[in-house]
Amino acid sequence: MKTICVDAGAPDFAKRVKELGQILREGGLVAFPTETVYGLGGNALSAESARKIYAAKGRPSDNPLIVHVADIAQARTLVKSLSPLEEKLMETFWPGPLTLVCPKSDIIPPETSGGLSTVAIRSPAHPATQALLRAAGVPIAGPSANLSGKPSPTTAADVLADLSGRIEAVIDGGPCEIGLESTIVSCADGVITLYRPGAVTTEMLEAFAPVSVDPALLGKADAAAAPKAPGMKYRHYAPRAPMTVYAGDAESVQSILVSLAIEKRNIGFFVSEETAALLPAGLPVFIWGRRGDDATMARRLFAGLHYFDTVPVEAIYGEGTGMTGMGFAIMNRLTKATGYHIIMKNAETDT
Ligand code: TXA
Ligand code: MG
Repeated sequence: MKTICVDAGAPDFAKRVKELGQILREGGLVAFPTETVYGLGGNALSAESARKIYAAKGRPSDNPLIVHVADIAQARTLVKSLSPLEEKLMETFWPGPLTLVCPKSDIIPPETSGGLSTVAIRSPAHPATQALLRAAGVPIAGPSANLSGKPSPTTAADVLADLSGRIEAVIDGGPCEIGLESTIVSCADGVITLYRPGAVTTEMLEAFAPVSVDPALLGKADAAAAPKAPGMKYRHYAPRAPMTVYAGDAESVQSILVSLAIEKRNIGFFVSEETAALLPAGLPVFIWGRRGDDATMARRLFAGLHYFDTVPVEAIYGEGTGMTGMGFAIMNRLTKATGYHIIMKNAETDT
């Protein structure tokens, strides 16, 4: 199969998107841009399309897919009912980076929901994908458009690097604005349970109801219960070389990284602009952003992990960020990328 790349900014996009909608209705796969990461789309109402998505990604089929909808009205057709809290969150954060896990209606096949009685739904903000949803006329099941275990794609080129020849088309809508996957929550008994942190932060959700964080997001994998979002248990985002991240007190973190740069050979650094300026010249360094600029660090995180797949280093040493706001989502992805090798400096215990 030859994968076509359709430019969302081209003058004939309105016409081309109708053809892409038809490809989806007929069971084909079309990757699409969103504000978070690129998605690998198929008809969410078709068991056959879901099977094709799992095959294209090489993904275990017990890991359910997020279903993308144009609006709340379309979301209502996929669920048993919506509570006032769910409606309120959708009205506030849609279209945008918030996914809600709700009891599913019968039109969602078990292949799409990974056999669960619930379905994860979100309405993405990117105008090209809103146009695709309207052209398709069906909800679009879409995991991140990467091969299973690889970092999520934030450009159409990333999508093609993993999936060229495995899907019918990709829409090139430019680099993703946020760069990390959506926040996933469920709402039961008036409590918001956080399954995966993202750009809709815990602090933002607390304005609507108490937030309970899935313990599997905080602890080590072996110490915690099975995560509520099945996909959170899989190794993800891992670069080829082993990675260790130091977080906490800035000065201690910087002094450790500088001594590693002097002592060790064949290592790479994943650090802030400020820390990069302290390192000896000529080392492989991915400059992540300014310290504390979490929006930039989120946007560039997966590009940095991809970068180290192109540079032959034996180990990667990185610098973390704070745990509040978007920092929680960044540190959650780094925890997975490093296989839990996050070392807190000046904290009471190392984790
Ligand atoms: O930002 C995003 O959410 C992107 C874009 C494309 O929308 N999509 C995305 O999909 O990240 P994916 O498949 O890579 O991650 C979906 C996560 C997985 O961890 C999966 O286990 C979880 O959502 N999930 C899906 N349905 C669920 C359900 N019914 N209950 C619990 N977790 C669910
Ligand atoms: Mg994914």
